[in-house]
Amino acid sequence: MQKLKWGMIGGGEGSQIGPAHRLGALADGHFELAAGALDHRPDAGREYAERLGVAPDRAYGDWTEMLEGEKGRSDRIDLVTIATPNSTHFEITKAFLEAGFNVLCEKPMTMTVEEGEEIVRVAEKTGKICAVNYCYSAYPMVRQARAMVQNGEIGKVRLVVTAFSHGHHGDATDADNPRVRWRYNPEMAGVSGQFADCGIHALHMASFICNDEVATLSADFASTIPSRELEDDAMVNFRMQGGTVGRLWTSSVAIGRQHGFDIQVFGETGGLRWASEQPNQLIYTPVGGRTQIIEKGEGGLHDDAQRLSRVSIAHPEGFPLAVANIYCDLADAIRGEIRDGLPNAADGVRSMSAVHTAVASAKDGGAWKDARPSIFK
Ligand code: NAI
Repeated sequence: MQKLKWGMIGGGEGSQIGPAHRLGALADGHFELAAGALDHRPDAGREYAERLGVAPDRAYGDWTEMLEGEKGRSDRIDLVTIATPNSTHFEITKAFLEAGFNVLCEKPMTMTVEEGEEIVRVAEKTGKICAVNYCYSAYPMVRQARAMVQNGEIGKVRLVVTAFSHGHHGDATDADNPRVRWRYNPEMAGVSGQFADCGIHALHMASFICNDEVATLSADFASTIPSRELEDDAMVNFRMQGGTVGRLWTSSVAIGRQHGFDIQVFGETGGLRWASEQPNQLIYTPVGGRTQIIEKGEGGLHDDAQRLSRVSIAHPEGFPLAVANIYCDLADAIRGEIRDGLPNAADGVRSMSAVHTAVASAKDGGAWKDARPSIFK
C-alpha cells in the first residue's frame, strides 16, 4: 500500500509533543514526513525539517508558506498535524481545511466556542477530516473499557470519577519561570489554566468511555499560588445527557502525583478502573465478584483493543504508540474507512464549551450551567 504524505506545523526540536507525533505517525508505516513548518523561527524550522528527511523545497519557514506550497502540488500532503501553541490552532486549522487538507489539530482545538463551531461547520462543508488529538482515548485498554460499556458488561453507568492532577507547577519558588507562568496568564492561555490544559482530556475520556456527552456542570476553581490569575486547581461536577453523575478533579499543584490521569466508571453491574501510568491494565470488578486485571494483549479482548495492540502481552507500548493509534485510525479514515472513536471537531468544540461554562460557573459560585455548545442543543 502506498504511504500517505504527512506534514507537520509546530512540534519543532525540543518541543514537548513533537516527538510523540513523529514516533506515532511513522510507527506503522502508514505515513511519511513529506513537509513541515516546524518552528516559530523560520530558519530553525527549515533546518530541522531537512534533518528529519524533508526535501528542501518542502521544508517551509512558516505555515502560510507551507499552505501555498502544498496547495499547488500534485503530490500534496494527505494530512497536516498542527502542534503549535493553542492560540494559533483556529487560524491554521481553518485555513488548511478550506484549502482541502485533512487536519489533526492538537487540543484545545480553539480558544473560543464560536471558533470551535466555525471549525465544525468548515469541516462539514469541505468534507475533510478534522481530528483532535485526544490521544489517551486511543490506548488499547481505554478502547477495551469503552467497548465493555457499550456491550453492557457493567450495566447502565451510574457514576464516572476522573482526575488529571499532577504536581509539576506546585513549586511556588518556580512560579515566575516563563515556561510555567504563561499557562496562568489569560493573555497567553485564554480563560482557563489547568482545566483547559489537562481537565479537558479527563472530560473527553469520561464522554468517550461512557459514550455520552456532558450536559450540565458546576465548577469550583482555585489559584492556590496567589500570583496566578488563572486556576491551578479545579473540581468540576457534571451530569451527562443519559443521567450519569460525573466528578472531575484537575490540578497542577498536586505534588507527588506525576502524570496523574486516571478514571473509574461505576455501572449497575460492575466497575472499571484505568490509569495512564499503568496503561496496559484495565481493572474490572463485577458486582458481588472478584476484582480482575485485564491485560493488553491477552485473549478475548474486544476487537478495537486487539487491533490497536502491537507487541505481545506484558510488553509496554506507551504514550507514543497511543498517538500512533490515532494515526492508524486517521490513515483508515483518509483511505475511506471511518473508525468509531476517532476524536473529531465535535469533541473539540464540546471541550471548549465545557471550559467556558466551567469558568462562568466558577465565577458564579459554582452555579449549575448548560455545558453544551449551541450547535448541539
Ligand atoms: P512547546 O512550546 O513545547 O512547542 C511548540 C512548538 O511549536 C515549538 O517547536 C515552536 O517553535 C513551534 N511553533 C510555535 N509557533 C509556531 C508557528 N506559528 N508556526 C510553526 N511552529 C510554531 O509546546 P507543546 O507543549 O509541544 O504544545 C504544543 C501543543 O500541543 C499545545 O496546543 C498543547 O496543548 C498540545 N499538547 C498536547 C498534548 C496531548 O496529550 N495531546 C500533550 C502536550 C501538548
